[in-house]
Amino acid sequence: MGKAFLVTGTDTGVGKTFVACGLLRAFREMGVSAAPFKPVETGCPEYPMDGSLLKEAAGLDVDDSDIVPFLFSEPLAPAVAEELEGKKIDLEVLGRTLKRLRNSYEVVVVEGAGGLLVPVKGRVTYADLAVMWDLPVLVVARSKLGTINHTLLTIRVARAYGLKVLAVVLNGYEGTDAAERTNPRIIRELGDCEVFLVGRHDEPPVLKEIAGFLHENLAGS
Ligand SMILES: Nc1ncnc2c1ncn2[C@@H]1O[C@H](COP(=O)(O)OP(=O)(O)O)[C@@H](O)[C@H]1O
Ligand SMILES: [Mg+2]
Repeated sequence: MGKAFLVTGTDTGVGKTFVACGLLRAFREMGVSAAPFKPVETGCPEYPMDGSLLKEAAGLDVDDSDIVPFLFSEPLAPAVAEELEGKKIDLEVLGRTLKRLRNSYEVVVVEGAGGLLVPVKGRVTYADLAVMWDLPVLVVARSKLGTINHTLLTIRVARAYGLKVLAVVLNGYEGTDAAERTNPRIIRELGDCEVFLVGRHDEPPVLKEIAGFLHENLAGS
């Protein structure tokens, strides 16, 4: 079975899709077959927006529903969208879809929605899914002032659930102020984990470095 990990974030809009797409392209360049999986996408009335970007980055010609099984119109947490829109999310369908992808690709890059404690269905959160599916996590965070707290909260919650934190990506890094320049060291020390910086470019070379690191540090089974 292929390797898989969850790209989670400290918030929505922090760059999970951007980083996941860069990693998918990097895996392709490394000759590693990789597929994305976005269990639920919300805020898309017609077609999955993250799903399309992820699919294109992976160079896959498959149905959207193979990558994003459940789609909702309103920009809401999945559990809330499900409640309001009356379309049911089936966790078994999600599990089966991931399994199928893991059986077909060497690496599956799973993108959550928002952060680890966002409810997917009822009280089931992305942290619960990561436990159920045995997924280590890559944490994407902003690089500016305020990120120490958000990032350490996410790392602690992940570990409290027994999840392995693969690394933190501080995204949109510009290095323009003291907070940004010191955040990587502080998060590395206090979070006791690897920290990578992704700048504001189309395709920062560091994404290849991160893909290589993940490939070495992900357990296959
Ligand atoms: N490092 C980056 N450089 C340039 N644009 C970025 C970068 N990271 C994110 N963006 C842009 O910021 C927006 C939000 O990022 P996105 O990946 O969609 O966040 P999330 O998936 O966490 O909600 C998108 O328009 C994305 O293209
Ligand atoms: Mg996204």
